[in-house]
This record gives sequence, C-alpha cells and structure tokens, in this order.
Amino acid sequence: MRYLHAISALTIVLVAAAFPPSPAASAWQAPAASAWQAPAASAGQPPLRAATAGQAPQGRGGGFRDAFPPRPPADPAVVERGRALYSVNCAFCHGADTRGGDSGPSLLRSGRVLDDQHGELIGPIVLNGRVDRGMPKFTFTMAQVEDIADFIHTFRAAGYDESRMTPPSILVGDATAGATFFNAKCASCHSPTGDLHGIGARFTDPKLLQQSWLMPGSGGRVASSLVTVPPTMVTVTLPSGEKIDGELDRLDDFGVSLTEADGTHRSFRTDGDTPKVEVHDPLQPHKDLLRMYRDADIHNVTAYLVTLK
Ligand code: HEC
Ligand code: HEC
Repeated sequence: MRYLHAISALTIVLVAAAFPPSPAASAWQAPAASAWQAPAASAGQPPLRAATAGQAPQGRGGGFRDAFPPRPPADPAVVERGRALYSVNCAFCHGADTRGGDSGPSLLRSGRVLDDQHGELIGPIVLNGRVDRGMPKFTFTMAQVEDIADFIHTFRAAGYDESRMTPPSILVGDATAGATFFNAKCASCHSPTGDLHGIGARFTDPKLLQQSWLMPGSGGRVASSLVTVPPTMVTVTLPSGEKIDGELDRLDDFGVSLTEADGTHRSFRTDGDTPKVEVHDPLQPHKDLLRMYRDADIHNVTAYLVTLK
C-alpha cells in the first residue's frame, strides 16, 4: 500500500501540473445553495439514491436529504477533463465507474459525494487525503477538483447512470484503427517490434494494460511493477546562478524538494519564479496526449496493444 501511495502521490503532482486550471475556477467556492432547486422540481423523477445511514448531512437544511434533486447536465468539455483526471488518479482505487474497487470504496454510495455539487465537499477530501486510511492526498487546483467532481456526478446525473453503459469487457475497440492511431501518435517513441514487443502477453489484464499506456507508472502496484518509468528530474537555479539537479520529490506552490545524485535531499522555498524551477518529466508527452484521446481511440489502441503478443 505504501508503495502505491508513493506512486500515486508522484503521478498526481505531475498530472496535476499537466492540466492547466480551467477558467471555471472561481465558481468552486460558490455557495452550495445556488445550484439547488426545491425537491418539488424533481417530481416525476424517482429519488436517485438514499444517503448512507450514519453520515451526517454536511451543513444543509433538512428535507433535502432523501430527494437529491437532479443536477443540470455538466458541460461535456468539463466532464471530459474530469474523466481524464479521474481515470488516471482515482479509477484504480474507486473503479472506472466510481462503484469502488480493490482499494477504495464506492463513491456512488458516499453521502459526501451525493451532497456535493461542484467539488465543495469532495475537494477537501481529495486535497487532504485520508492518508491513514488509504486515501492519498492530491495536489490539484480547485478547478481540477471541480472537473473531477462533475465527472463523478455524471454517474447519476438526471437519473441517467452512465455506468450502466459500461461494457463487461474493455476490449471493444478495433485493433486495425488502433494500429493506425498508434502509427500516427505513438510510433515516434515506441515500436511494436521493439520496446512494446510482447506487451500484450506481459499484461494478462487488459484493464491494467490500458491504464499502463494511458499513464505509464499508474494503475497500482501490479501495473507499475510491469513498467519502468524513468524518474522526473528537476533543475533549481538559485539567484546566485548555482544550479542544483536531482530527482523531483515534491513540488507545490510553496517549494520544491529533490534528491541529488549522491542521495542528498534538498528543499527550497519558492516565491513566484525565484528560484527558477525547471521540471523534466519523461512522461510529459503522455500527459499531453491524455487530453486529446477520445473514448474510441482509447478502446482501439488497447485492442491493438493486446495483439502484440
Ligand atoms: C490508493 C487508493 C485511492 C486513490 C488513488 C483515491 N482514493 Fe479516494 N479513497 C480511498 C479510500 C481507501 C477511501 C476511504 C477512506 C476512509 O475510510 O475514510 C477513500 C475515500 C474517498 C472519498 C470519501 C468517500 C466518503 O464517503 O467519505 C472521496 C470523495 C474520494 N475518496 C475521492 C477520490 C478521488 C476524487 C480520487 C482521485 C483524485 C481518489 N479518491 C483517489 C482510496 C483512494
Ligand atoms: C514523445 C515520446 C512518447 C510518445 C509520443 C508516447 N510515449 Fe509511451 N512512453 C514514453 C516514455 C518516456 C515512457 C516511459 C517508459 C519508457 O521509457 O519506456 C513510455 C511508456 C509507455 C508504455 C509502458 C512501456 C513499457 O515498457 O511497459 C506504454 C505501453 C506506452 N508508453 C504506450 C504509448 C502509446 C500507446 C502511445 C501513443 C498513444 C505513446 N506511448 C506515446 C514516451 C512516449
């Protein structure tokens, strides 16, 4: 578990860095009440789901509790951004369809998630984690949290539960189309007869294979043990001109820490652009690509990679 956390924490920082904040950022703190309608508005629609017993309502007046009003459908672009972040950072614990997995509970049954509108309740959990109970903390912007929350909410928005559409197998793509996509977007760095030779045989579970090409190094302990991802390096240039290079340990708004080649740990406070911090992330191309895949591309590429036995 600890190993997994270390990986998640790293992936998280990097992935977070790869997604620029959306312009919707300011909406995150909006009073939760604004999006709520009277329960009467949901007439004709069955109550979506009763709250989990024992979880206290989060500061909202009574009466709403058992009749969650349908949310207006979220902007598809927001949901797509949320899906990308969720699939890399959350899916391997909470399941691709938010119904839970080996290392995390179902989010569909969570009272917090049911009460949340745009990340105002999910946000603190994601940003602080519950580290002692297996939930790592994530370095996301509020806008990213909001995107993830909106994606999670699609699983019950307006009574339409996207997860029911989840095919039983993820091998639903077209391998030929996947090969074409691969030649266009991946072949500059990978080869089906070179480094990816036999990858379909290395991964017996297509879900892990998919997770591994979407974001190498994520996907939990099993998937990570099958892929060697070079570390992210960082160069810090002090005002004096001195440069310090090392493996990136942590980077946030307040500072950067790294491990030098001889094993020395060093940390620097940052204030705006001082000192200068340059991150060299070998997976940057994967993070850039992550934003452009359509669902069909993902299915097709996985279907193709599975054939590389
Ligand atoms: C390494 C596994 C792991 C990852 C990755 C993970 N979680 Fe969790 N998460 C957990 C566990 C375990 C819990 C339950 C903690 C507890 O018992 O309080 C949890 C709890 C939660 C809860 C609270 C549910 C409740 O009812 O209290 C939310 C919301 C949540 N996770 C969202 C997310 C989101 C969003 C992401 C991705 C950004 C994420 N998690 C990534 C393991 C994980
Ligand atoms: C600009 C270079 C670049 C591009 C483009 C790229 N990757 Fe990668 N990929 C990497 C690097 C770097 C790694 C880290 C591991 C390594 O060095 O092999 C990696 C790792 C992987 C792995 C895990 C490798 C292993 O040995 O298990 C898979 C699978 C993979 N990429 C598939 C893809 C697919 C599919 C695409 C296109 C959709 C793609 N990559 C595009 C650079 C790239």
